[in-house]
Amino acid sequence: MIIEHAEPTLYQLVYISERCRSDSDQVINDIKAQAEHNNQKQHITGALLFNERYFLQYLEGELEAVTALYNKICHDSRHHNVRLLVHKEIAQRDFCRWSLGVKKLLDTEENQDLLSLLNMLGQANSVSETQLDWLKLALK
Ligand SMILES: Cc1cc2nc3c(=O)[nH]c(=O)nc-3n(C[C@H](O)[C@H](O)[C@H](O)COP(=O)(O)O)c2cc1C
Repeated sequence: MIIEHAEPTLYQLVYISERCRSDSDQVINDIKAQAEHNNQKQHITGALLFNERYFLQYLEGELEAVTALYNKICHDSRHHNVRLLVHKEIAQRDFCRWSLGVKKLLDTEENQDLLSLLNMLGQANSVSETQLDWLKLALK
C-alpha cells in the first residue's frame, strides 16, 4: 500500500503597517535576525518590503503558524496601524527560498511608481492581484 503524505494547506498573509518615526534601520536587522531564527522552525517563508514610512510583509505557511506570528507582529511596538490586506489559501509559496527576504525601497527615480503604490496602500484596506504581482516582482 502506498501512503501519500498530502502537503499541508498553505496560506499567504500580506499586511501593511507604519514604522515608528524615530526608528533607525537597525530595527530591520533585529527583525531579520528574529525572523530567521523563528520562521524556519515554523516552516514560514516571506518577504518584507520597507521604506522610511511603511512595512509591507508577505508571510506564508500553515494557517496556525502564520496566524500566530501575525498576532505577535500586530502587538510589536516597532510599528503601528497594522492592516491586513490579504489572507488567502495558496497552492504554492511565492518566497520558498527565504525565511524572510528583506528589501528597502530606496527613493530613486526608478522606484517612484512602487513608492506611490506603497503610499497608496498605506491608506487602503485592500490590494488588487495586479498590485500584488507588482510588489512580488519588486521583492524577488
Ligand atoms: C515589521 C515586522 C516584521 C516582523 N516579522 C517577523 C517575522 O517574520 N518572524 C518573526 O519571528 N518575527 C517577526 N517580527 C518580530 C515579532 O513581532 C516578534 O517580536 C518576534 O517574533 C518575537 O520573537 P520571540 O518570540 O522569539 O521573542 C516582526 C516585527 C515587525 C515589526
